[in-house]
Amino acid sequence: MTRLLAIDQGTTSSRAILFDGEGRLQRVAQQEFRQFYPRDGWVEHDPAEIWESTRQVCLEVLHQEGLSAREVAGIGITNQRETTVIWDRATGEAVYPAIVWQDRRTTPLCEKLRNDGLEPRVVEKTGLIMDPYFSATKIAWILEHVDGVRERAERGELAFGTIDSWLLWKLTNGRVHATDATNASRTALFNIHTQQWDDELLSIFRVPASLLPEVRDSASDFGRTEADLFGGPISVGGIAGDQQAALFGQTCFEKGMAKSTYGTGCFLMLNTGEEAIRSENRLLTTVAYRLGGRTTYAMEGSIFVAGAAVQWLRDGLGLIKHAGETEAMAHSVGVDNPVYLVPAFTGLGAPYWDPHARGAILGLTRDTGIADIVTAGLQSVCYQTKDLVRAIQNDGAPLKELRVDGGMVVNDWLMQFLADILNVAVDRPAITETTALGAACLAGLQTGVYDNLDQIRERWQVDQRFEPEMAPAVREKAYQGWLDAVEKVTRSR
Ligand code: G3P
Repeated sequence: MTRLLAIDQGTTSSRAILFDGEGRLQRVAQQEFRQFYPRDGWVEHDPAEIWESTRQVCLEVLHQEGLSAREVAGIGITNQRETTVIWDRATGEAVYPAIVWQDRRTTPLCEKLRNDGLEPRVVEKTGLIMDPYFSATKIAWILEHVDGVRERAERGELAFGTIDSWLLWKLTNGRVHATDATNASRTALFNIHTQQWDDELLSIFRVPASLLPEVRDSASDFGRTEADLFGGPISVGGIAGDQQAALFGQTCFEKGMAKSTYGTGCFLMLNTGEEAIRSENRLLTTVAYRLGGRTTYAMEGSIFVAGAAVQWLRDGLGLIKHAGETEAMAHSVGVDNPVYLVPAFTGLGAPYWDPHARGAILGLTRDTGIADIVTAGLQSVCYQTKDLVRAIQNDGAPLKELRVDGGMVVNDWLMQFLADILNVAVDRPAITETTALGAACLAGLQTGVYDNLDQIRERWQVDQRFEPEMAPAVREKAYQGWLDAVEKVTRSR
């Protein structure tokens, strides 16, 4: 009974991943779901579809492996963070679509609160900044704009959750309304120092406390799934936001270790140990994980568009058929590409935090071809990571190596360019499904599959290390071109 089931509910797909007790991947099932863009800058998901796709992928892996619920030691949930759902406690139905982390509709509210001088309090308590990215203004928007919702919330009839809570509610058939400290730390309502929901923050964003889930450790008893879902109950033993789960799966357990995940967006996280370090360079301070009541903190740089840029080159522009084609194209173009693509489709995240910026392709000449633009798309991912690494270094945290994961890291050209531009060694692990692995490991800790972090650490293996090889002058010229391009995008409004 050492098998662990990870649910990885991401921005574009729901996945179930089965691991054995050695952390070996046994089976994956995946379902994409619909994205809704009702207006410029708005991004929504259907919470019912998120749940249904999650339920189905879980059933699929269990079925394909011929496993009964009894043979699974525990479930770990990891999820797209910040995305906000409010539902009716009696019916279990959402009162409005999920407002996705990428959604920018609450920019005016953030600006108002900033003008009211409230940002410093929010930064101090949450480690975040005043940006539409986080859940608090999304909750406020639903309370304000959906008929009757504020009144129902005040009567205690409604529940709020990030996607982990929503899934947990569904998995336990409404018996458990809880979250973990990593997900709570992304709401802007949670005081990361006291590890509690904070009354002052609740009043700033006008959120009734009755909406909120209970916050537990990342490895905890989150309850058991409703028996008839999977043919018997399974314990939910771990929850963490997807970036924190990746940090955990990368076994970055020591202060100073860092990982960067290349999914829809890119999120770089540095373990800062028991200290919540306040960035002077617009990075976020967040909870890395909480185990046995002890909080480990991290610094995070969040970029909104990484893999999504390649997806756009494929689906939006039709320049490629498969992401796999980009590697050969980049080889043909080389690192010295005068074309820059700034993928500010939904504004820019760290360290610029400019919700108004929009994307651009610069440096076009008569002989620019498809391969140059595609390569610029790949390079934008590395340049953005460089922005984050520079910010971390300016905050006084040296970064000598970086563990990478996520779909894009199979691209060797990209990894080499990343190491070159960062001037930092890049380690790609043997298992790049580290987000799911992290969630499974948390569940494994809770259910006794693992006794301690050492047992998890010793299973991590490197697949390939990419050492920086680029001449400093080439690096500087290339990166300067990026900074110039970003400046045009952020100033062009
Ligand atoms: O903060 C948003 C992040 O958790 C989304 O991750 O992997 O779905 O792009 P991903």
